[in-house]
Amino acid sequence: MKIYSKKDLSNYDLSLTYDDISFVPTKISAIRSRVEAKTNTNFLDIDLGMPVVSSPMDSVTGIKMAQALNDLGCLGVLNRFDSSLENLLNGNVPHSGIRSVSIALNAPKDLISKLTEFAGVICIDTANAANKTVLQKCEEIKNNFNVKVMVGNVACGANLKDLVNAGADAVRIGIGGGSVCTTSIQTGIGIGQVSSLLDVYFARESEKLNIELIADGGIKSPGDVAKAIALGADAVMLGRMLAGTKETPGEVIKYADQLWKKYRGSSSFGVKMKNEFIEGEETMVPYKGTVKNVIDGISDGLRSAMSYMNCKSINELKQVNSFVILSNSSYLERLPKK
Ligand code: IMP
Repeated sequence: MKIYSKKDLSNYDLSLTYDDISFVPTKISAIRSRVEAKTNTNFLDIDLGMPVVSSPMDSVTGIKMAQALNDLGCLGVLNRFDSSLENLLNGNVPHSGIRSVSIALNAPKDLISKLTEFAGVICIDTANAANKTVLQKCEEIKNNFNVKVMVGNVACGANLKDLVNAGADAVRIGIGGGSVCTTSIQTGIGIGQVSSLLDVYFARESEKLNIELIADGGIKSPGDVAKAIALGADAVMLGRMLAGTKETPGEVIKYADQLWKKYRGSSSFGVKMKNEFIEGEETMVPYKGTVKNVIDGISDGLRSAMSYMNCKSINELKQVNSFVILSNSSYLERLPKK
């Protein structure tokens, strides 16, 4: 069996995603219990308890979710689709705990000005960051406001330098990998999330660029969170893992003796409500209770991964360099059996 470094994985013939790889614990761990592993980190000048960021989707991050995540040491990016932003700007809800918001590409300057009074991070929420208008918008915001700017999304590192030159502080990595995303089917664009992330990571390394990396889309489990950080992500962005929790916008629905909540893509019909080109699905996910349950589960899994891999800190986890590529049968073998 070959042990692959990040560079080896990046150079692999085929594009890879989280289920294709696993950690290989090659070192004797000096960590006695997972409580010794610390997941705190600094992301975009914000001290976080864990490098977890929520997707700016209308079925994930409303005011309650952003505030709950802030209380849990994570970062919520408020969506731009529902009435959340309007309520904030009207003064109907307090700004406390709202540290990041998403905006549309055509958001006017006075809106951005109001948002930067309380939010330290603005996310230009588009499907493709490698686009002239996005770069111009990023530059305009950076020239006028003292705020961190997150752009997205990219599938590879080819244009990373252009994003940095436009002033971007962070980039969301992943096209076609989201769990309600139909971009790849509709357009044929997109590669596996592991390969996407590594391609951007090595572009940053080789060109010595200063930009933070967000692994966005396709993360299904605490193990995937650990893998994304070990592959060089500074933070993970979660949609489905947080969907269905109490704090997400929307009602709990009882159907077939089970409780559910809606989860839908930002480019789905339900969000657009017009007969436009659609690149996202709508679905129901089981109701999960409070988001604290989910965040605690991620924290436990992440710290356990760190103790197997002898990492006391997130920085040490980012240095991990021993992975394996799983055959299909070895992937299936690792799943619990009924
Ligand atoms: P998930 O965590 O796998 O559910 O992926 C969430 C990510 O999917 C988001 O952060 C976006 O990058 C992406 N996404 C959200 N809505 C859409 C859509 O309608 N089409 C394509 N991608 C989407």
